[in-house]
Amino acid sequence: MKSPYHEEPLTLAQGEDLFSLYCASCHGDTGYGDGAAGGALGQKPANFHDTLVTKQSNGALFWKLSNGKGNMPPFQDVFTAEQRWQLIAYVRQLGKTD
Ligand code: HEC
Repeated sequence: MKSPYHEEPLTLAQGEDLFSLYCASCHGDTGYGDGAAGGALGQKPANFHDTLVTKQSNGALFWKLSNGKGNMPPFQDVFTAEQRWQLIAYVRQLGKTD
């Protein structure tokens, strides 16, 4: 599964906005899985810098984001497909930075 959308300069900025609103509480501002709300789950939110995540395909991450994983709710009905791909692009970007 591949993103049908072209990655534009705006893609990452939009992904970043969504991420800080909806994901950072669990995954942490920089994606290390250390967000405040994550600690209460009894299951550590994924660390996007870990090879467990970075070695996965975009499609696999997109699927988990859409359908949920463990204690993470599904986001299929929360975001459009384009927004979910923006988020995956941003999650990728986080994984490449320290
Ligand atoms: C309620 C806390 C919570 C929120 C909010 C949340 N997540 Fe998660 N996320 C988790 C947990 C817990 C996992 C599962 C970790 C595991 O199974 O090892 C996970 C897993 C993932 C995975 C799969 C990684 C993998 O391979 O296991 C992706 C991708 C992901 N989250 C992205 C996001 C994005 C993008 C958002 C914002 C739209 C988000 N998450 C919001 C808690 C959360």
